[in-house]
Amino acid sequence: MKPYYQDKYATIYHGDCLEIMPELEPESVDLIIADPFYVPPNIFKWKNFDDFYWAFNKKWLLESKRILKKDFHMFIFFHLKIWLVLNCF
Ligand SMILES: C[S@@+](CC[C@H](N)C(=O)[O-])C[C@H]1O[C@@H](n2cnc3c(N)ncnc32)[C@H](O)[C@@H]1O
Repeated sequence: MKPYYQDKYATIYHGDCLEIMPELEPESVDLIIADPFYVPPNIFKWKNFDDFYWAFNKKWLLESKRILKKDFHMFIFFHLKIWLVLNCF
């Protein structure tokens, strides 16, 4: 997997987080800052949106747990309802 940018301090990948995060080594990340899309309740009335939205959040949060180092920091800008899936930690 080719980084978008890399120097001695940071590596940046650009793409779908659900494809990139599973490629990263366990406990290899110092910090996650995330600003995931947030639109619940389903203002667009997309069919199955809630299932998609929460499944998406659960996937990237579980990947975050796997790739973050033990004494990690994670900053998330989020809708309060994301607390419902943070219990996966
Ligand atoms: C709330 S916006 C973030 C805005 C950004 N912090 C800014 O100040 O411009 C959510 C972003 O998540 C991105 N996004 C949605 N699904 C994604 C995914 N699977 N992987 C990576 N980024 C995703 C969207 O393209 C969108 O830019």
